[in-house]
Amino acid sequence: MPPVPDTAAARWRELATEIRRHDRLYYQAAAPEISDVDYDALMKELETIEAAHPELRVPGSPSQRVAGERDEAFPSHAHRVPMLSLSNTYSREELGGFFERVAKGLDLDEEAAKDLTWSVEPKVDGVALALTYEAGRLAMAATRGDGHSGDAVTANAFTLIDLPSELPESIDLELRAEVYMDRRRFVRLNAAREAAGEELFANPRNLTAGTLKLLDSREVARRGLSLAIYAVVDSAAAGHGASLDAAAELGLPVMPERRLCRGPEAVLAAIDVLDARRSKLPFETDGAVVKLDDFALQERLGATAKSPRWGIAFKFAAEEVETRVREIRLQVGRTGAVTPVAELEPVTLAGTTVSRATLHNRDEIERLGIRQNDTVRIVKGGEIIPKVIAVLTDRREGAQEPYRFPETCPACDAPLSFAEEEVAVRCENPACPAQLRRRLEHFASRGALDIEGLGKQWVEILVEQELVKHFADLFRLTREQLLELERMGEKSADNLLAAIETAKGRAWRRKIFALGIRHVGAETARILAGSYPDLETLREAPEEALQELDEVGPVVAASLLDFFTRDSAVAEVAALEDVGFFEHSEQEAVSPPSEERWLTGKRVVITGSFSDVTREELKTWLQSRGAKVSGSVSGRTDLLLAGEKAGGKLEKARSLGVEVWDEARFLAERDDAEAGEA
Ligand code: IVH
Repeated sequence: MPPVPDTAAARWRELATEIRRHDRLYYQAAAPEISDVDYDALMKELETIEAAHPELRVPGSPSQRVAGERDEAFPSHAHRVPMLSLSNTYSREELGGFFERVAKGLDLDEEAAKDLTWSVEPKVDGVALALTYEAGRLAMAATRGDGHSGDAVTANAFTLIDLPSELPESIDLELRAEVYMDRRRFVRLNAAREAAGEELFANPRNLTAGTLKLLDSREVARRGLSLAIYAVVDSAAAGHGASLDAAAELGLPVMPERRLCRGPEAVLAAIDVLDARRSKLPFETDGAVVKLDDFALQERLGATAKSPRWGIAFKFAAEEVETRVREIRLQVGRTGAVTPVAELEPVTLAGTTVSRATLHNRDEIERLGIRQNDTVRIVKGGEIIPKVIAVLTDRREGAQEPYRFPETCPACDAPLSFAEEEVAVRCENPACPAQLRRRLEHFASRGALDIEGLGKQWVEILVEQELVKHFADLFRLTREQLLELERMGEKSADNLLAAIETAKGRAWRRKIFALGIRHVGAETARILAGSYPDLETLREAPEEALQELDEVGPVVAASLLDFFTRDSAVAEVAALEDVGFFEHSEQEAVSPPSEERWLTGKRVVITGSFSDVTREELKTWLQSRGAKVSGSVSGRTDLLLAGEKAGGKLEKARSLGVEVWDEARFLAERDDAEAGEA
């Protein structure tokens, strides 16, 4: 065999190193730098070189193993059956090639191959999990890791929404599933973080990966992950479709939107249907998975070291468009964090008109090399705001000057701080009007003081007219001042003043949240209010005592301390005291710490049908209170929620002396509990 030319070997080394780096970013840091398409392109180039020079296909090559390495914080779990990955295809032609390979592997002629049954299902863009039930109990949940062994994250798996922790006792079962964060939940979580002045999660997949590896299962439960089961290992059923149907019968959350198709044409049609439905699904999907249904045929085809020969992932075209950057603008947040955004020529992307894209931070601008007037390619992935993935430098025609990151705040001209240890650039001027506007918007927002009528527009006008420079100024506004403002009528002025006055009586926890202390979200504020009933006690709280509270770690404690000693905040709080803001707060019952809640650890079974709540809601609510929801009644069951037409389970519960609630009782208990927690 001729020696491998230096150039090919060098390129191979470069590619192998690069692919390993991206594997680490993806699997360990959960912070990928490149898209799947680009990753696959690197892998393809590597494989092409190896095809021409097979001696490069060494066992350590990225082409020869499943990517991913283990995380040390969790015990290792060896998978009884390895967790392989699927090969990808991006075109119908390539998919045709796959069908041909399968037919050939099974020795079928063209006509016979048309009769094969395929399952077409969404490829959920989440994190793979292996689940084992032993004698009906969830005994093990492990991540994929390197495909042979992964991390045992069983305690966290108990918190997965929809996953029963118990099945009928006769059941031993091994499953494969994809864990994901429901898209709406993701948006809500990020909105809460934004309100708390915290950094946003980049996308649902990274958040899922990070959440699954948290050591505090209660936090995992709070965030709320879902899952979709995509395989039953060693099922007794004849085929994949039937095996998932049987799992669904047990109440397990199996992959939705699956379809069995006869022949390649039906498969292509089903892929189109899925592609069109993408935006309606609760999870992110980047493609469709096509699997041969019949288990006996799957076995005949077998697998390579990396992936089965009976299945393939068909990747949807990424939703990308090109447009032009009108301007790079800096946005100043409530806590002074400065985020660059690209203002774009409006374009339609994934069904919505897009006119801006986030540039995240200064490093990202440098990495992209983006300039004003550049033509860029943008995508909408899991992110809320689209992002720029590439700058088309060959489209530059001279109107693009290199971008220089401003050294002063665009709103107040104060010098920006570029602290080494932080990626975020900040405006440190507490009087910055942009920060003030954001703080006031937060102060008046629904989760905080809920000042009706004080929306974005009025905040802007009040700040612009210099009527409000501090929170306390709101409470000093007069009718006359308001009436001088354009478009402010008598009635609106009176209503606004009344709404502002009402805010003084809001609950203490809302006031804490309204202050906009960094890292103090609504939930943290609630916990603080439970232990420190007024301003004095909170202000004097020692750092060590704060750290001991649920939800309050060193970061939050330090932030509180900083807040109550920083000149600007001290003055702000003192001014609020002067106007009587802290004097009377609505009294609310404070809930006991979560460990003591009556549902924690209780085994609850749901049966029958309900009229005012869905079973999903019931289950989510119970789980959020720490209950374990299982599918069958046994001697260990603590409570049965029985709706209309409850049958066998109700009888069994009665015979075992298990407590039973009907729907009305549940609703009453729920209202009580929530009133206590509010
Ligand atoms: S079947 C032998 N079905 O994609 C592997 N996988 O690259 C069989 N995934 O590891 C996988 N949705 O984490 C299958 N409907 C689906 C899937 C799915 C997402 C993930 C899974 C797997 C990876 C394959």
